[in-house]
Amino acid sequence: MNIAVFASGRGSNFSAIIRAVKKGKIKASLSLLVCDNPGAGAITKAKRAGIKVALVKSKECSDKKDFEAMIAAHLENEKIELIALAGFMRILSPEFVRKYSGRILNIHPALLPSFKGAEGIKDAFGYGVKVTGVTVHFVDEAMDHGPIILQQAVKIEAGDNLVSLEKKIHKIEHRLYPKAIRLFVEGRLKIEGRGVKISNP
Ligand code: GAR
Repeated sequence: MNIAVFASGRGSNFSAIIRAVKKGKIKASLSLLVCDNPGAGAITKAKRAGIKVALVKSKECSDKKDFEAMIAAHLENEKIELIALAGFMRILSPEFVRKYSGRILNIHPALLPSFKGAEGIKDAFGYGVKVTGVTVHFVDEAMDHGPIILQQAVKIEAGDNLVSLEKKIHKIEHRLYPKAIRLFVEGRLKIEGRGVKISNP
């Protein structure tokens, strides 16, 4: 199975996926990084790992449709069967999501449906919740929404600050996302209504 990761920033989740593929934990080919930001750390990581990069800049496209058509062309070239969004800070159109329905995953740094959006960690910390966490889910047409595959809770302790909480969240993300991708690749995920059933090997 050919996988594409979509990332706009640092790419630490992308790195965790690269490691899991290299170790043989995910038995698939990490074929492509789709990136919209020429300054993204994820690009350096892809180059270092010998992974193809499709840099698609929205400014160079006439509109969202054109932007997504360019991405789709790269996905078709590489025969991509699974898309893993890992800090891709653009909302995909309903048309794009429908085209790849059931084949797009996303990671979010909070326990969905709480604290959606670009600042999940900060928003949870600022709200003062005692428990937050990480969610990996199938993507549907709404933002940070869709059938949940895996979630893990993280306690916010009295001594925590935003930096320590970010560290805790990222550590869990780097374990949880490769695990969810492995389950998908092994054909063990089945969307049933609003939820996801995980079968044994
Ligand atoms: C991750 O924390 C991911 O959960 C978040 O972006 C970060 C990307 O970090 N995604 C969202 O907030 C989606 N709403 P990374 O570039 O180091 O993987």
